[in-house]
Amino acid sequence: MKILAFAGSTSSTSINKELVKFVLKDFQDDEINLIDLNDFDMPVFSVDREKKGFPDEAHHFLQVIEECDAIICSLAEHNRSYSAAFKNVFDWASRINVKVFQNRPMLLMSTSPGGYGGGNVMNTAKTFFPQFGGEVKETFSLPKFYENFDLEVGVIDPEMLKDLKDKITNFKNQIRN
Ligand SMILES: Cc1cc2nc3c(=O)[nH]c(=O)nc-3n(C[C@H](O)[C@H](O)[C@H](O)COP(=O)(O)O)c2cc1C
Repeated sequence: MKILAFAGSTSSTSINKELVKFVLKDFQDDEINLIDLNDFDMPVFSVDREKKGFPDEAHHFLQVIEECDAIICSLAEHNRSYSAAFKNVFDWASRINVKVFQNRPMLLMSTSPGGYGGGNVMNTAKTFFPQFGGEVKETFSLPKFYENFDLEVGVIDPEMLKDLKDKITNFKNQIRN
């Protein structure tokens, strides 16, 4: 299967990208397209800029979604919501096709250094992605990233690791049926 993966962050040291890369180790039989939102840098969306036309990057974002069978993403939380970088890509893309995620099944994740693990952005995305064509099949939030994740090993808390692995298994079963 073709898996599109991304972190909702443009940080060169993104912890959400680390979580995505860890999960992708369980998808080695699949064709992975791990994109970087830095490659979708666009002007800040406005209805006035939109009148001048859509950036190629907005079309490209929709295209990589169209080309995939499933999406694995982990969202950074900024001020209890999406990062500006993700929101901008999302806003531009939604103006071309409101079903941005084009009915693709999603493994939706979030992580942060705090104890809620990006739970606010998770709640927003989990609630509203379905309105934008995102079929959220499984969700996972990793709290206290720097305590629960080792850059070499991955998730180190045994209970959290089991929870994540169970969700990966369930996700795989759902996308392969
Ligand atoms: C502007 C800004 C706002 C933030 N707001 C939150 C927040 O509301 N909740 C939270 O858990 N972490 C917050 N953080 C910390 C981020 O979770 C942390 O920077 C994390 O590394 C972001 O994910 P990333 O490394 O994948 O970009 C904030 C960070 C920044 C720079």
